[in-house]
Amino acid sequence: MKEHRYEKIYKKFGKNLPWCLEGVPKFFKSLIESGWVKPCKTLDMGCGIGDYSNYLALNEFEVLGIDISETAIKMAKEKYSSNKNLQFKVYDIFKLKEIKEKYDFVYEISILHNIEPKKRAEYIKNICSVLNKNGKLLVCSFSKDDLLFQGRESLYFQDLDNTVYPLEEKDFQKLFGKYFKIEKTEKVYMGRKGKRKRERWLCLMEKK
Ligand SMILES: C[S@@+](CC[C@H](N)C(=O)[O-])C[C@H]1O[C@@H](n2cnc3c(N)ncnc32)[C@H](O)[C@@H]1O
Repeated sequence: MKEHRYEKIYKKFGKNLPWCLEGVPKFFKSLIESGWVKPCKTLDMGCGIGDYSNYLALNEFEVLGIDISETAIKMAKEKYSSNKNLQFKVYDIFKLKEIKEKYDFVYEISILHNIEPKKRAEYIKNICSVLNKNGKLLVCSFSKDDLLFQGRESLYFQDLDNTVYPLEEKDFQKLFGKYFKIEKTEKVYMGRKGKRKRERWLCLMEKK
């Protein structure tokens, strides 16, 4: 089977990647502290090396982190294997419909902007299939307004051999509005220590 592009990325760079932050950003901590979502059965889609999953598990959430990259999941397991509220599995977010389990909270950090626009609708249907009615959904994706994109529809990162497709605020209503009540959309900033923080959209939703 052809190796997924993200498996190649993790094999080449390990955790030396722009999204591997060693911890979770302030906006995520504040949101959890605010009680917007209470400890519950949670799915982290595209969990990478597992920092967000671990943070939630330490806050009493029962978390499954899934990622397409075996290398990322191995790193997550090595780092965070001792927490009983936390599991990691290699899994494709385009195959969520095959999962029989349902979750009360599903979230993704920096996944949607990696998905080609023509595949977004299919991705969102997959999310719907694993989220309970009234379940919460958090999506955090690059904003087209960030200096890096300057309004462009897409940007190719040569070092990672990866293209990203940043979003505008109105995209969230267009993409998710049929299935979700959009509770809030706001700009948040995150990045590695010492690097410029990149602008993103944080969108908080509840399944209709
Ligand atoms: C930009 S990284 C973000 C990782 C993590 N959410 C974070 O913020 O630290 C995108 C992640 O999505 C994962 N990914 C990409 N396509 C996927 C797919 N089809 N199924 C599951 N994971 C996928 C990649 O392996 C990678 O870990």
